[in-house]
Amino acid sequence: MENTENPIIRTEELTRIYQDGATVVALNRLSLEVARGEFLAVVGPSGSGKSTLLNLIGTLDTPTDGKVVVNGVGTGRLSGNALADFRRQHIGFVFQLFNLIPVLTSLENVMLPLVPYRRRLGLDLELRARELLAAVSLDDRMRHLPSQLSGGEQQRVAIARALINEPKLVLADEPTGNLDSQAGDECISLLRGLNQDRRVTVVLATHSEVIAQQANRVIHLQDGAIITG
Ligand SMILES: Nc1ncnc2c1ncn2[C@@H]1O[C@H](COP(=O)(O)OP(=O)(O)OP(=O)(O)O)[C@@H](O)[C@H]1O
Ligand SMILES: [Mg+2]
Repeated sequence: MENTENPIIRTEELTRIYQDGATVVALNRLSLEVARGEFLAVVGPSGSGKSTLLNLIGTLDTPTDGKVVVNGVGTGRLSGNALADFRRQHIGFVFQLFNLIPVLTSLENVMLPLVPYRRRLGLDLELRARELLAAVSLDDRMRHLPSQLSGGEQQRVAIARALINEPKLVLADEPTGNLDSQAGDECISLLRGLNQDRRVTVVLATHSEVIAQQANRVIHLQDGAIITG
């Protein structure tokens, strides 16, 4: 059942400490609320904790302390299949390095996250993937491998893949980091379009103030804490 309670994301005193020889406090008691439908940019220098924050919100990592609530669900209570189901139902990820599978075509990469659930969900997965690739203007690149695509095209495949589960939340970690400025602008336009047209909440990590200006709200991180916003 869709939970319509605001906010879509709430973190409470979220803390992540890495202990590998040295102790690094990557996130330091960070409390944040993100409203449904918001486009939030998280800006900060390298090492300020942007990826750590997105990974914790996306349940790819576990906090040392504090809490993450997404769509009204405290994610600390989830594990195993429940966690995988939760991610599949709620979250789409876009990464700096695209993370496409090299031996799969664009179409196969986009379908991949839902292939194991195809029968259970009873949907025409290929049709949905085709529609998403068309929406990112890759109609003519469906059968290409990642190595046959430009960086911008690969990132558009990755955006289409992030949308295959129709998530209400997309987490984009430095998605323009490996793109030239034109491809980077296209990538951000796509994310903005998603946000405006489909009311997908977007959290975008970037070191660029210029890119961050495209968001509804900007928070600045330093040493794992919010310094403005
Ligand atoms: N797996 C890890 N083990 C140890 N320390 C880590 C690990 N991942 C991140 N860190 C440390 O945590 C801090 C925050 O890292 P994080 O990757 O969140 O920064 P970031 O803001 O995303 O930086 P960038 O802009 O370079 O991507 C850094 O000091 C980093 O070295
Ligand atoms: Mg990072």
